[in-house]
Amino acid sequence: MSLLSVEHVDTGYGPVAVNRDVSLAVGQNGIVTILGPNGAGKTTLLRSIAGLVKPRRGAVTFDGRDVTALHADEKATLGIVMVPEGRHVFADMSVRENLLLGAYTRKDRDAVEADIALMENYFTILAKKRGARAGTLSGGQQQMLAIARGLMARPRILLLEEPSLGLSPLLVSELQGIIIDVRESLAPLCCSSSRTPDLHSRWPSKAI
Ligand SMILES: Nc1ncnc2c1ncn2[C@@H]1O[C@H](COP(=O)(O)OP(=O)(O)OP(=O)(O)O)[C@@H](O)[C@H]1O
Ligand SMILES: [Mg+2]
Repeated sequence: MSLLSVEHVDTGYGPVAVNRDVSLAVGQNGIVTILGPNGAGKTTLLRSIAGLVKPRRGAVTFDGRDVTALHADEKATLGIVMVPEGRHVFADMSVRENLLLGAYTRKDRDAVEADIALMENYFTILAKKRGARAGTLSGGQQQMLAIARGLMARPRILLLEEPSLGLSPLLVSELQGIIIDVRESLAPLCCSSSRTPDLHSRWPSKAI
């Protein structure tokens, strides 16, 4: 059975219809990229999964439970974590402090330290820049930090919005490898992308 199912979802804002009859599923160790041009509704669909936009029709099911009407904070508690486009790191805090903030709801301090080490292993640049202010990182490095911070919450599914945006081809291929590792050992993922070809060339995508 799928961990996450989106079934016949419509979304919109006021009179504007955005997504129409979108269905997709992500399995326990799965990954799907929502693919579409600018304005197609990728962000809106991810936000509807995260509980930031309420679907007008259809259902979102997570771990066998209908979560369509839940708010974002309730969905976050269930382990549905979104990393929005645009990095949003805390520029004046260190890389390590940013990672710790991703784990602020967790009580398992030893495991949090172990996860920081894990993130520094995945994203080696974060180990090198551990004490640096996040605002001094390059755009691509900040993107890595934002993804790692999302993973520090130990999500049960990670919603990654446009993870490759603004990354060099070299960083895109590095991130592709990391995402595959994450899917196998940490959490399934649902990404969005307006770029083609892109990261998702190595896994299933859903065109909207
Ligand atoms: N808060 C909002 N209020 C009204 N309309 C919105 C709002 N957010 C997005 N839209 C509209 O909904 C449509 C889909 O936008 P959305 O951001 O979901 O697309 P997208 O596929 O993520 O695009 P991009 O590739 O540019 O990020 C667009 O026409 C956009 O103008
Ligand atoms: Mg978008």
